Amino acid sequence: MTYVLAIDQGTTSTRAILFDGQMQPVASAQEEFAQHYPASGWVEHEPDDLWQTMLRTARTAIARAGLRPAEIAALGITNQRETTLVWDRATGRPIHRAIVWQDRRTADLCEALKGRGFEDMVSARTGLLLDPYFSGTKLAWLLDHVEGARARARAGELLFGTVDTWLIWNLTGGAVHATDATNAARTLLYDIHEGRWSEPICEMLGIPMAMLPTVRDSAGDFGVARRDILGAEIPILGVAGDQQAATIGQACFLPGMLKSTYGTGCFALLNTGATPVRSRNRLLTTIAYQLDGRPCYALEGSIFIAGAAVQWLRDGLGVLDSAAQSQPLAERADAQQEVVLVPAFTGLGAPYWQPQCRGAVFGLTRNTGPAELARAALESVGLQTRDLLEAMHADWSPAGDDSVLRVDGGLSANDWAMQFLSDILATRVDRPKIRETTALGAAWLAGMKADLYPDMQGFAERWALDRAFEPEMAAQERSRRYAGWKQAVQATLAMAD
Ligand code: G3P
Repeated sequence: MTYVLAIDQGTTSTRAILFDGQMQPVASAQEEFAQHYPASGWVEHEPDDLWQTMLRTARTAIARAGLRPAEIAALGITNQRETTLVWDRATGRPIHRAIVWQDRRTADLCEALKGRGFEDMVSARTGLLLDPYFSGTKLAWLLDHVEGARARARAGELLFGTVDTWLIWNLTGGAVHATDATNAARTLLYDIHEGRWSEPICEMLGIPMAMLPTVRDSAGDFGVARRDILGAEIPILGVAGDQQAATIGQACFLPGMLKSTYGTGCFALLNTGATPVRSRNRLLTTIAYQLDGRPCYALEGSIFIAGAAVQWLRDGLGVLDSAAQSQPLAERADAQQEVVLVPAFTGLGAPYWQPQCRGAVFGLTRNTGPAELARAALESVGLQTRDLLEAMHADWSPAGDDSVLRVDGGLSANDWAMQFLSDILATRVDRPKIRETTALGAAWLAGMKADLYPDMQGFAERWALDRAFEPEMAAQERSRRYAGWKQAVQATLAMAD
């Protein structure tokens, strides 16, 4: 029993990765699934797609590794966060498709609750904002819009879960209805200070507390995956939301340590230790992980468009054949042109939280072409990250801060973008050897709980550097470029007013 299976159930695809006793990935499988857009701003997933892609990728990864399922010591789950499901306790049948974190259908409800003066109470308890991003108002929407749902929930017939809870429920054949503290912390229903579901918030949203899952440590006992599902009984011992799992996989265990994951969007988490720091700059306070009953908190900043800006150049404008081409293109951009792209394609996330504004490009000339746009897209990733880090450091600065940013995700492979990131932040940027940090984080939680993997310190010592990027840009140039970006953002925000 020397392997750990990590499931990474993400927004657009599900992945299964098997790690050996040395925490090295040995086999994996990935499958995309359908996105449903029933109305403008609405995004849904078919719950069965989440489950079936998990099953198929897990089985394929096991077959590819040439293993017997009985050789797997533990299973770890990491997942897209906030996405909301409700199902029937008796039949396991969902009452509706999953409402995805990106879905904005509860914007009016959030506005109404803010209007009634609830934001302060919610924010003080959950560390979050009254925004449709989180599960709470999505769950209220389901109870309001699926016929009879609220009465059935009150009668104890319905269960709520985020994606981790849905997968655990199915893996255990309905025996376990649980989540971990990191996922609970994204629901808008969990009091991150008290470590329990918040009664006043559930009351505000009309949510019967009996439908909420039990909250456990991130490394804990989540039941056993049934033999008929994966070919052997496998204990589920690790669970964390994907951005928290990446923080763990990056071994950001000490206060002041910081990671940023560059996928479609970008999520930066700053470990603040045992202290939950309340943001004055519209960042989120969240739980990075909870071990042995002790939560470790983080400040989180999310931007919606990072790698997606490069996808837009490829798929929207057709000026790239592949995302990898953005690097050579950016390298040959005209140094005289200063094109600034504000990629507010779906509004702006932290620290602006302006859902209505849309993207803009500044500084176009007759000579502007694909190279300058590619450079502007890659630079926008660094500039937005600086916005997040400025807000984080305004909220909280650890003593002896040596300011290093650990990066992962697809875009972290782009050397040019990572060098610019380091330049504009004036911070060292470290890229690890294993860039599967999200799955690694889930695997470590489960493998550590199974006594197969080292403890926190041992794990942190194994974190290995691929490349460090040191700032090279002159200070004056950095200030000028960042001031230009701030102006561009203000002009973009003003267009939405
Ligand atoms: O908060 C949403 C986040 O967890 C989604 O991550 O990687 O599935 O886009 P990802």
